[in-house]
Amino acid sequence: MKLVIANWKNNPKILAQAKRIFLSVKKRAGQLKNVEIVICPPFLYLPELSISRSRLKLGGQDCSWEGSIPLTGEVTPSMLKSFGAEYVILGHSERRRYFQETDAVINRKIKSALKTGLKVIFCVGEDPRNQIKKGLKGIRGGVMPQVAIVYEPLSAISTQKGSLVVPAELRQKKTLIQNALKQMFSRTVSQKIKIIYGGSVDEKNIKTLLKETEMDGFLIGQASLSSSRFLKIVQFCNRNRRTT
Ligand code: PGA
Repeated sequence: MKLVIANWKNNPKILAQAKRIFLSVKKRAGQLKNVEIVICPPFLYLPELSISRSRLKLGGQDCSWEGSIPLTGEVTPSMLKSFGAEYVILGHSERRRYFQETDAVINRKIKSALKTGLKVIFCVGEDPRNQIKKGLKGIRGGVMPQVAIVYEPLSAISTQKGSLVVPAELRQKKTLIQNALKQMFSRTVSQKIKIIYGGSVDEKNIKTLLKETEMDGFLIGQASLSSSRFLKIVQFCNRNRRTT
């Protein structure tokens, strides 16, 4: 089953708009049984959206780690969980780039999120092998099926033109990521980990991506802010149930 994740980032501007998008996706989602849909809104919208989530799953776009020290401004994994989030995105390249998140910080967040029982959508980009090694350091193979790896190169994000990494390159990156995971965990464990692509995925390029890349799912930014565009992507994924 494909995993399709909407990353709304710092959008939409007001709650009423967020509810509108969410409810129109929800309306159709009930009929799409071959796809897992996760909506990751800004933290502030989670309480309201969690009331009516039904088949749609919710996720945070980041979180801190649990701990006894005060962390001004942070949202912990257990807070996310208490508002119905099942997932959290960690290591997104915008967090690495604009908030200077290091691999060590991401690793700490991943461990804490997993311990709390959240599923982790772990993003890697420019140097996937190294980011995987450092980000997943010290994590037991047993919990790894709760982690999905997103390959999302910075240059492919929000390009406006809908251009994307060529399928051949994506296939190659998928193999590289699988090999890195095999080296860290067992073969059996690595086969259970979903490998996803993100970066300007839209309703036009999704067909090619599905046909030519064998990715286990997609992380959608811009195109997820329009319910009709997002639903088209989800519908294509629902029809194509190949892979895990
Ligand atoms: P995009 O964003 O689809 O707008 O490129 C994807 C992401 O950054 O998660």
